[in-house]
Order: sequence, then structure tokens, then C-alpha cells
Amino acid sequence: MTAHVAVIPAAGRGTRMRPATKVVPKALITVVDRPAVQYVVEEAVRAGATEVILVVDLDAGHLVHQHFLSNGRLPGLEHVKIRVVVQEEALGLGHAVWETAEQVRDRSFFCLLADNIVRPGADVLPQLAAAAKGDSAVCLRELTREFLSKYGVIVPGSDLVDGSLDIVGAVEKPGPVLAPSNLGLIGRYVFTPEIFEILGKLTPGHGGEIQLTDAINILASTGRCRGYVAEQDLLDVGTPQGLVMATWILGTSQFPELI
Ligand code: UTP
Repeated sequence: MTAHVAVIPAAGRGTRMRPATKVVPKALITVVDRPAVQYVVEEAVRAGATEVILVVDLDAGHLVHQHFLSNGRLPGLEHVKIRVVVQEEALGLGHAVWETAEQVRDRSFFCLLADNIVRPGADVLPQLAAAAKGDSAVCLRELTREFLSKYGVIVPGSDLVDGSLDIVGAVEKPGPVLAPSNLGLIGRYVFTPEIFEILGKLTPGHGGEIQLTDAINILASTGRCRGYVAEQDLLDVGTPQGLVMATWILGTSQFPELI
């Protein structure tokens, strides 16, 4: 199964990137020669998305839209339908995804976090869609101890076979003591529309936010969610250190003479 619609939440506050994000949305911070979110849209299109729904904030979200639509369409994205949904308040990632329910309707969809970029040649969406087998699937990485308090972590429901497994639960940022495994959620998902029903009923969780991980936990408890363990991590451009690393990796892949 593949999905033809991709949801890209990009309405977070970006506090870890202050002061860069005081006026400019985090999604528009440049990595080498294009804003972070453009890499993510391009990745979705490579996986077969023909419609992209960007979730943006009220203040500066129109700039994200303008990047894709003003002064002619970007090469490679000429035929992609790009829409924007405004999340008026940053109530959490789960809330941002829920805001797209009316546009997505009854379709399965990819979900890609705007501040995580895949390494060159390391796309994961095709494998994720294959692992889903018609249900939902989440992309995972084996995390070291210190990252268990920074990511959502899943409860495995089966052994790993050919890079994928059943999952039966998920916990947001559990920390090393409470973590049910070392497999963390890394910002790429494929969901059936069932996720919207679950998100619509959620109450605030970790950090007082509506958490996508809590919805994944409920979905996983029904037995309709798989995990795909990626071989490489994503580049997190939501922190200054991550941005420097991503700039170097993507920059040297584009300009190998720099090494
Ligand atoms: P983060 O956890 O990185 O949060 O969001 P953040 O608010 O963007 O950044 P910090 O923690 O303040 O530095 C993960 C993804 O979810 C989106 C973000 O834009 C990012 O792509 N998000 C998060 C929303 O769209 N809305 C929200 O309410 C929260």
C-alpha cells in the first residue's frame, strides 16, 4: 500500500531554535540551499504523494505556503497539490494531525515531521508503507539510553522479522527506567483514517499537549499498527546542533569537494 496524501505538521513553537524562530517559522530555516520543509515535501513526493497538507501556525504559516506557491512552482513539485491547514494554537503534535481530518477524509496518509530530514539515499516511506500491509505503521530506530527521554518509545508485540514487527503500545518520552523497549518513534508514519477518531477523543498527555504517541498507543492496542525499524536515523534540524550536522551531511553530499 502507498499513500497519495501526506500530512506535514510544521506548526510547533520551535523554542529550541530561538532566536532564529522568533519571526521565521522553523520549517523555513535554510539547510544548504532550501528550507527544511522543502526536503520533507520532496521526500513525500518521491514516495508517491500527489497532495501535501502542511499544518502551519497562525502568525507566519502563510510564509510556508508562499514558499511553495509564489513566483512559480518549485522544480519537481509542479504537479503536487499543496494545501495549508492553520493550527491556531500549538496544542501538540497529535492536535496538529487531527486538524487535517477534514482534508484527508477517508484516505490513508503519510505523516512526516517537518523538522526531520532523511539522509541522502535513505528514504524510509516505501518500506514503511510495505510494512503497514494495509494498516498503520510507524518508523522506529534503536535508541541509546539518553534518547529514551526525548522520543516516544513503543511496546513490541512480536519479534523483528525483515525489519518490521507488531507493536502493542507506545509511551511518550518514558525515560530509561520506564521505557518498554529501546525502539523510538522517529517522525515518519503511515496512518489509516482510524487515527482521527482516536485523536479526537484524546485528552492532553505528556507536557500538557495532545500527543500523537498516545493515539499510536491506542491504535497499537487494537493490533492494527506495525513498526518498521529504519537502518539510519533522520537528521533533526529542530536543534542548533542537529542543524549544523544536517547542513554538513546534506552539504557535502551536494558539494563533495568540501570534504
Ligand atoms: P517538536 O517536538 O519539535 O516541538 O515538534 P516544537 O514546538 O516544534 O519545537 P520546540 O520543542 O519548541 O523546540 C515536532 C513536530 O511537530 C510539529 C512541529 O512543527 C514539528 O514538526 N508540531 C508540534 C505542530 O505542528 N504543532 C504542535 O502543536 C506541536
